[in-house]
Amino acid sequence: MTTYTDKGPKPESGRFLCFDHVTFWVGNAKQAASFYCTRMGFEPLAYKGLETGSRKIAAHVVRQNKIIYVFASMLEPFQPEECGQHLLKHGDAVKDVAFEVEDLDAIFKRAVERGASVVHEPWEVSDDNGSVRMATIKTYGDTTHTFIDRSRYTGPFLPEYKLINDKKDPLLTNLPEIGLLLIDHIVGNQPNECMTPATEWYEKNLMFHRFWSVDDKQIHTQYSALRSIVVTNYEETIKMPINEPAVGKRKSQIQEYVDYNGGAGVQHIAMRTNDIIKSITNLKARGMTFLEIPPTYFKNLRNQLKNSKVEVKENLDELQRLNILVDFDDDGYLLQIFTKPMQDRPTLFLEVIQRNNHQGFGAGNFKSLFEAIEADQAERGNL
Ligand SMILES: [Fe+2]
Repeated sequence: MTTYTDKGPKPESGRFLCFDHVTFWVGNAKQAASFYCTRMGFEPLAYKGLETGSRKIAAHVVRQNKIIYVFASMLEPFQPEECGQHLLKHGDAVKDVAFEVEDLDAIFKRAVERGASVVHEPWEVSDDNGSVRMATIKTYGDTTHTFIDRSRYTGPFLPEYKLINDKKDPLLTNLPEIGLLLIDHIVGNQPNECMTPATEWYEKNLMFHRFWSVDDKQIHTQYSALRSIVVTNYEETIKMPINEPAVGKRKSQIQEYVDYNGGAGVQHIAMRTNDIIKSITNLKARGMTFLEIPPTYFKNLRNQLKNSKVEVKENLDELQRLNILVDFDDDGYLLQIFTKPMQDRPTLFLEVIQRNNHQGFGAGNFKSLFEAIEADQAERGNL
């Protein structure tokens, strides 16, 4: 495991602030949004579709604190063609990861000058709440990044969407609160040999820098291995780990993702909570299912913690009962857990993470996590 201290030169203009929202292209946006609401604790925020004058795309926007997901589906046969092709190839998948930025034009111009492919030149949309400026470029696979400058906008999401604040879903009002606060990191899986080029794309075009990395000598099981580099913006408010498979005895879980996704794409979105025990207890009460960790993991953990300076405040029996993983060093620890895939294809899954003075990504857990994933992979006949 390597941590980096060199942030590289500070960009002379433009600033990345945070993840703005994530757009999923799915077969049935109405139902996908409902699943994330009932199972994951999101609430309906906004909508666009035929009733609002959006003739080609229906989009349902859901929110939980600072996390906003947009589920979009095409309304007509074969249109927009790109949307249909994306669905055929990837199934329900993340299409766009949007960043809130300052000085969008500077960031866009620099990225394009340095070689980023343009998907959408800067454009502006407005309503009674002001105006928003956006631009979109291509990153790995068929995934895109949209830059959003909302400094002259006071609305809760974006123009062209109708807000949902009238009818409260009677089911949601009866479900326990989850408390996911913000997006902690978003991971992109790459085919073999594509991690370094994807990393360099962020370094060159967005002026991101390396934050953390692991290689296959550090992260491997009997069967499979993985390499990962985390890139981040100058202020280190946006973390994007980039993974690739490494050759093992059998198929890497990253390779399984790449096969089922049809190339590179977003593998998981990690969302932060301040109370993971409450979040996971309530997610399980809502019927969410998570990776199960072998009992030996917690036995080893208790032994390792005895020899460590760090004190985990949470009750270990409770963490074990909920299958929550712990990674730590002398200064702090993190708690994390991973859902099973969120759709039929073994592609995207979600992570819930709580940080206690620890900025890692759970490298200490990768091995046991891999073993848990491999057990599921074997069940799918893919190991
Ligand atoms: Fe993660």
